[in-house]
Amino acid sequence: MLHCNREIKEIDKSLLEVRPGNCLDVLPQIESSSVDLIITSPPYAEQRADKYNSIKESEYVDWFIPLGKELLRVLKPTGSFLLNIKAHCGKGERSLYVYELVIALKKACGFKFIDEYVWYKSALPRKWSHRLRDCWEPIFHFSKDKNYINHHELMIISESTFGSKRGYATFNAITGNVGGYHDICKQEPGKTLLENILYFPTALLVKDQYAHPAKFPFELIRCLVKGFCPKGGIVLDPFAGSGMTALAALTWECRSINIELSPKFAKMIRQRIDEFNPMTMRKRAEVQEETIDLFQE
Ligand SMILES: C[S@@+](CC[C@H](N)C(=O)[O-])C[C@H]1O[C@@H](n2cnc3c(N)ncnc32)[C@H](O)[C@@H]1O
Repeated sequence: MLHCNREIKEIDKSLLEVRPGNCLDVLPQIESSSVDLIITSPPYAEQRADKYNSIKESEYVDWFIPLGKELLRVLKPTGSFLLNIKAHCGKGERSLYVYELVIALKKACGFKFIDEYVWYKSALPRKWSHRLRDCWEPIFHFSKDKNYINHHELMIISESTFGSKRGYATFNAITGNVGGYHDICKQEPGKTLLENILYFPTALLVKDQYAHPAKFPFELIRCLVKGFCPKGGIVLDPFAGSGMTALAALTWECRSINIELSPKFAKMIRQRIDEFNPMTMRKRAEVQEETIDLFQE
């Protein structure tokens, strides 16, 4: 598991903006090419209709395209758009609407598709079916032009990291990372660049007093904010929920714009920030993971 909470200090609460409403109505109020980073998890198709509005799978891509165009408009040329969304299973197979959405974001909206990251979030207890237990969600990375990345902030500890030539790799049993020769970033002894599988188990990391059915783990979002937004930049979450993106942005001294349809959740975002205490976050960083042989006989 990865965490990055130790250095968290007080935040400037005046950098928070909560804009209640439908993001399709609110986004046009945001200046073009002004946002450094958009991180969001929209309502998934056909899911949680009891908690907030749910869009039909067959209508999802058409619903998202105007929104995607607005997100591209507000993004800086160096900006990134990180979209967390996973398709549900129904009638014995996994829906493909998310892949249709990814293609539409490129072809109909004009985003560049940078990569797909795996957020390892740990499996929830579920009825077993004809597939393996589901323990991850994708985070799709789009950009407008060439996106900003801070390699230094995305470096993690690896006990034996750099070889002297290409092709040489080492494995770190503690972090699970493979180090090796990197020529795209400045080498830092004992560290390696984060891989595109992100280990942030939800079960351990989303527990707090703010009740929302789909909270991001703070640690995941903070890591992405630090990596893809310059300190002091602008971070936007158009489906802000309980305000986890807001908190991560503020701890990186960024201005945080949050759009949320539900008045209850919009209020929760303000409450989360008002009640923030850096000591609580530091304690979370002390959670440790044990290494075990999962296939032991
Ligand atoms: C998946 S949740 C986001 C949770 C968030 N990532 C967090 O960490 O708490 C999606 C949120 O989008 C909100 N929402 C749904 N439709 C919306 C819309 N059209 N505009 C703005 N917010 C919307 C829902 O009320 C819900 O809180």
